[in-house]
Amino acid sequence: MTASDTPRAPLRVDRERLWQNLMRLKEIGGYDDGATGLRGVRRLALTDEDAQARRLVVTWMEEAGLRVRVDRIGNVYGERAGEDPALPCVLVGSHIDTVATGGAFDGTLGVLGGIEVVRALDAAGIRTRRPVEVGFFTEEEGVRFGTDMLGSAVTAGRIDLAHAYALTDADGATVRDELVRIGFDGSAPEVRPVPHAYVECHIEQGPILAAAGVDIGIVTGVQAISWQRLTLHGEAAHAGTTPIEARADAGLAAAEVVVEIRRMCDSGTFGRLRGTVGTLALSPAQTNVIPAGAVLTVDLRNPDDALMAAAETHLGAFVDALHDRHGVSATWERMARTAVVPFDDSVQDVIAASADALGLPYVRAMSGAGHDAQEIAATCPTAMVFVAGEHGGISHTPREYSRPEACGNGVDVLANAVLALAGPVVTA
Ligand code: GLV
Ligand code: MN
Ligand code: MN
Repeated sequence: MTASDTPRAPLRVDRERLWQNLMRLKEIGGYDDGATGLRGVRRLALTDEDAQARRLVVTWMEEAGLRVRVDRIGNVYGERAGEDPALPCVLVGSHIDTVATGGAFDGTLGVLGGIEVVRALDAAGIRTRRPVEVGFFTEEEGVRFGTDMLGSAVTAGRIDLAHAYALTDADGATVRDELVRIGFDGSAPEVRPVPHAYVECHIEQGPILAAAGVDIGIVTGVQAISWQRLTLHGEAAHAGTTPIEARADAGLAAAEVVVEIRRMCDSGTFGRLRGTVGTLALSPAQTNVIPAGAVLTVDLRNPDDALMAAAETHLGAFVDALHDRHGVSATWERMARTAVVPFDDSVQDVIAASADALGLPYVRAMSGAGHDAQEIAATCPTAMVFVAGEHGGISHTPREYSRPEACGNGVDVLANAVLALAGPVVTA
């Protein structure tokens, strides 16, 4: 796999149309965010907003001449035929669902960027030996149904389709019912033909590129991710009369867990561990009642699998000890767990050659965030292009922002990588 076939004049996408479409898509699920005073995006997977966005993106795919199919987990693929239909395709894509407080770029850049790549190939009259496919995957964020990378994990065979279908949201709606309700219960097999390669263009969502002063990152891999739901069981009692030493306060235990996770991160014992308690609910949630229950989510990230395992073991023992100290017991529920995923060197090199051809400086970096690419990597050679964000690369908030020029540069890199991988047909 080399970039030697890349034509002399690099391919360039229509960055104005890319930007306009990013801004149009942002309005589906758009809301006025009180905390930031900005316009954010709330487009949780398989909601009405997601359905509307899906329909618009499918329209754009069809306008770009792509043949669209939907698989049984609701992943959508649009195919541009290659000269040799027997060859496996080059797949690009990402996701269009967002967190509840999202921005305009997370995921969408890779999907709309993929469509622009196809349009640029068409505009330049370039045919490729391999088909090129643009895809978007169901419930990448995991915010609604509790497991991230759901669609791509089903595609890669890591998560069973029946298990995925049965997952429920906070109101008890299942993935299966929601797919049917929004009309994206496709019939294509959920395990897709193995692509020749997968390339995902995505905003970095972190500070590395900005600090290096470059728009482009070549992603070396994705760090390990651990999501667990922890339920702490204490005992409700009167806030005014119950002696301090006689309490089984689940709220106190939850607070200790939050602080211990931060201490673990600061200690260095677990390498570059990052830990977050992003949700915490106390019950029965009354001012004058000691909390009987606490339910919290624990999100751990680590670029080292052994140190991740050590962190999980340490936290488990810490929580066990809460029983002796506070009379609070615990149950754990595994939500998601993935190991470190290194990306393919040769695909990284193709992306590097593409950036070089465009005269764009880049750095190589491991991804702090999870991506569909980490799942598809189990099936075919995979790597990612990162695009720098503003404000330190902040993301999962309406402050998420990447400059039009950076987005255009990233998708140009994607386009030339795709062309090199798909093989331009040279007609002498
Ligand atoms: C995906 O956005 C993640 O949680 O890393
Ligand atoms: Mn994303
Ligand atoms: Mn995200």
